[in-house]
Amino acid sequence: MRHHREARGRCVLVIALVALACGCSRRQPQETGKGGGSPPSASARELRSADSFAQVADRAERSRALFAEASRVFLHPRCLNCHPNGDTPHQGMDLSVHDPPVVRGPDDKGVVGVQCTSCHQDHNLELARVPGAPQWHLAPRPMAWVGKSPGAICEQMKDPSRNGGRTLAQIIEHNAHDPLVAWGWKPGHDREPAPGTQEQLGRLIAAWVETGAECPSEGARP
Ligand code: HEC
Ligand code: HEC
Repeated sequence: MRHHREARGRCVLVIALVALACGCSRRQPQETGKGGGSPPSASARELRSADSFAQVADRAERSRALFAEASRVFLHPRCLNCHPNGDTPHQGMDLSVHDPPVVRGPDDKGVVGVQCTSCHQDHNLELARVPGAPQWHLAPRPMAWVGKSPGAICEQMKDPSRNGGRTLAQIIEHNAHDPLVAWGWKPGHDREPAPGTQEQLGRLIAAWVETGAECPSEGARP
């Protein structure tokens, strides 16, 4: 009898907690702005424009905020699936393991007989659901983003020993114009595109560089 009531009490508590958690996560999009002059946050599918960060008075703080906004793109599955921290690409919105099974191989392009480009063409194959863009292959291991914070991604992206020997100008250029990056906004089939546009990403990264290429602190989330 007493047991029953306790059980029911726990149950009510659990429901209340779940309701609370749901309420919080639903409100979160409006709360991501750090306050104190941050521009209003955009919906999940949009990016805040680089210009809207002008109202963050402190230059270093503005730089960190610009990168944090750009990292909403880097941490989107369209980018993460090709920047894995292991030997296989991921796929889908839940980063499931690539099906059919494939491995990165010695030069990130697959192995003899199972090259990425045996299936992936330079454009999306809509009927076969195979995504495509020129020279489809995995980002090298030092450029892995899966499981990393915006701060960690920032540090490695500006480090020539981990970013493919690029200058910051080349990092802007890659984000703004690379065809594999571009695929993130025209992923084909029913895949969800990365937030905002590639042009907006290019402007955010250019503004980040102009303001000193400061990195968000380790704990910071986009
Ligand atoms: C089809 C796989 C693929 C997809 C999808 C992809 N990338 Fe990459 N990415 C690569 C490869 C390969 C490289 C390394 C290119 C090189 O160094 O020549 C790379 C490198 C980069 C780099 C430069 C080096 C660094 O610091 O990481 C940036 C920036 C980048 N990608 C951004 C993106 C963004 C943003 C997206 C999503 C909108 C994305 N990538 C999606 C394969 C991909
Ligand atoms: C045997 C054919 C085949 C090979 C080889 C292959 N892929 Fe794929 N790949 C596919 C198919 C099919 C899909 C689409 C799966 C789906 O969405 O249902 C896919 C999806 C993907 C995606 C997911 C895109 C997304 O965001 O959902 C990535 C990333 C990817 N492949 C990368 C690679 C890389 C890198 C290689 C080489 C190491 C490779 N693939 C080799 C057939 C292949």
